[in-house]
Amino acid sequence: MPVHVDVANIPEWVDAERLLGSGFELQTTNPGWRRAHALLERPRAADVQARLRGVGIGGRALDVVVSPRLNRKVVRAARTEEARRRRHGSVGFSRSGAQLDKEGQMSLTPEALALQLGERADACTVIDACCGAGGNAIGFARARCEVTALDVNQSRLDMAAHNAKVYGVAKRIRWQCVDSTDAIARLHADLLFIDPPWGEDYDRMRVRLADLPFLEQLLGKAERFPRTWIKVPPSFDVNDLPRARPEAFFGTGKGDRQRVKFLLLELTSAGPKTSHS
Ligand SMILES: C[S@@+](CC[C@H](N)C(=O)[O-])C[C@H]1O[C@@H](n2cnc3c(N)ncnc32)[C@H](O)[C@@H]1O
Repeated sequence: MPVHVDVANIPEWVDAERLLGSGFELQTTNPGWRRAHALLERPRAADVQARLRGVGIGGRALDVVVSPRLNRKVVRAARTEEARRRRHGSVGFSRSGAQLDKEGQMSLTPEALALQLGERADACTVIDACCGAGGNAIGFARARCEVTALDVNQSRLDMAAHNAKVYGVAKRIRWQCVDSTDAIARLHADLLFIDPPWGEDYDRMRVRLADLPFLEQLLGKAERFPRTWIKVPPSFDVNDLPRARPEAFFGTGKGDRQRVKFLLLELTSAGPKTSHS
């Protein structure tokens, strides 16, 4: 017999059908936030619960209520399936020969998503303020952007330069081993891209701007760039940057197609008019 599934705290800028699957009716609650309801067979209800209960998007945890409650066997099966799915996420670098250290493995932007961002940048000049193993710098360069890639860590920068050769785009990237918070003041580009370190144990329910001190510091010096894109955890509280336009990026792998991998916050020099409540 079908059960009722309610999911609250879905930001309006998230593709709800992708997140939840089909069959949900949406209703706006507070401005900018929605609630979804569906009557689902138990295994699907258990899947929604296992994937989404307590997951933070945009600064609020999704609230999933299933009624009547599901029995333990169905819940356990859904959790096991979700754990299995997690092993089949989006591909980092697909080309053989690409190198990654432990932090790179954790923080690399998956190749398909880095390329999407690159194509959207439309062949402009980009500063990648913290390039890591090069996931985004290479994505931008593959999409014909001219990139200046910065990182404070020389060995990671070397790795990124090696990876750029593997992808045949080394000529479009200049590398600088610097602290971006110092260097940014003397650099110019159409687009400033910031993918700050989140840390392995970032809060999956709500990350505040103050939890990302490097980002906070850099933003103070980024105002003169025409466009700034910031990659933040899904749980980042968008109210902490009300001038930024948020967008959720989902995975492209079999196991994470329905999972928000990160938020992209876009700041333009004029600043969008919307604010979030
Ligand atoms: C999340 S990783 C970037 C991952 C990259 N976007 C990718 O897809 O491969 C963040 C990087 O910021 C670098 N970083 C941290 N503090 C920095 C600073 N003050 N200046 C420049 N880079 C910094 C770290 O060394 C790390 O490589």
